[in-house]
Amino acid sequence: MQEQIKTMKPYTGKNVVLGITGGIAAYKSIELIRRLNDSGINVRVIMTKAATEFVTPMTFEAISGNAVHTEMFGPRIKSAIEHIELARWADLLLIAPATANIIAKVNHGIADDLLSTVSLALTDIDLAIAPAMNLGMWQNPATQKNISDLNSRGINIWGPASGFQACGEIGSGRMIEAAEIVDYVKNYFVNNQQLPLSGKKIVITAGPTREPVDPVRFITNRSSGKMGYALAQALADNGAEVKLISGPVSLSKPAVGDIERITVETAMQMKEAVFDNIDGCDIFVGTAAVADYRIADIADKKLKKSQDDMRIDLIKNPDILGEVAALKKPPFTVGFAAETDNLEKYAKGKLEAKKLNMIAANIVGVSDKGFDSDKNELHVFWKDNSKILQLEEKRVIADKLVHIIMERYDAENKIKNT
Ligand code: C5P
Repeated sequence: MQEQIKTMKPYTGKNVVLGITGGIAAYKSIELIRRLNDSGINVRVIMTKAATEFVTPMTFEAISGNAVHTEMFGPRIKSAIEHIELARWADLLLIAPATANIIAKVNHGIADDLLSTVSLALTDIDLAIAPAMNLGMWQNPATQKNISDLNSRGINIWGPASGFQACGEIGSGRMIEAAEIVDYVKNYFVNNQQLPLSGKKIVITAGPTREPVDPVRFITNRSSGKMGYALAQALADNGAEVKLISGPVSLSKPAVGDIERITVETAMQMKEAVFDNIDGCDIFVGTAAVADYRIADIADKKLKKSQDDMRIDLIKNPDILGEVAALKKPPFTVGFAAETDNLEKYAKGKLEAKKLNMIAANIVGVSDKGFDSDKNELHVFWKDNSKILQLEEKRVIADKLVHIIMERYDAENKIKNT
């Protein structure tokens, strides 16, 4: 029976106290809580009195699954030190939306209600503020001075965005969207913890390459880059510093963690970008579907269809993965093998021939896995063992593959060091 691989994101099980103040953007906090919960983050809500005029506490209670806190004192309050208990529970206090008023109070240490009191009980680094206010209030020198003071104290300020405002004006002061805030929260947890790959430098290639024939045509393949991008994200989630060298794809740069994306088109450009970044690299992952051949003579003008048949001469591209593995001091090197048949035989052959530490093989040419699909199934081989990662979403498969990479990297580096 296959051993279950357990993987956890670094923000799973973290506790966020969400402070909601009196702005129209309070409605966005409903989606914010749902998205935080979807990422495995627990949320407890504190509302100011003004916030309850915009959305009822009942709404947030239902969404967060926890009682909403609105008062310091009163019959509902079970403990005289509830503010301290909330501060102790919180890994992060996020105020979203944050009005000019709460921003001023946090900056000046005023504690005249539950939210401002909990803010004062936390250290600056564990505080984040997503401003939401009218353009004029945002631009007011008092607010700007408060924001700059909070910034220099190391308090996280996320936003605001520019755009249409509830008051009908256009300009800066809108609260950033819930999805963006969640990315900031995840980044906060990834960047503030010692994680298994903290301090490790990783280079990963992804997507197809495009080999030009003439100024308007090229040859390429069906790779979407989804597996490589999911892996880049999973590696960064574990604290790695990731250089993602990407062929042409229609994906946005993964948003969480330390990822630099370098975009290239051809195999030769991909090789150059890899070798520009390979010094000091601990782990190299080659997920890119690099074209094996490029056009020998790229026409500088569009080719005309004057002949009935035509020939294009191709020359072999460098094997980027093979060249990385052949370095004097190679990083821990992981290859991919996309095969239509004889998966195990070809994958093991590549593992040996290219002197890789690991190879992840998948069958392509079937509709629900591999190229351009959201799902994948991988058979992972290394020198004396293998594991099958059953068909699942690529982001889940990526987490599991990173888990195996970390185990094998640890095992092989301990062997090297002893
Ligand atoms: O030999 P093959 O192309 O089948 O091996 C696939 C693996 O090699 C993948 O990890 C791919 O990223 C890498 N590769 C490469 N450079 C090439 C061809 C493949 O890095 N020119």
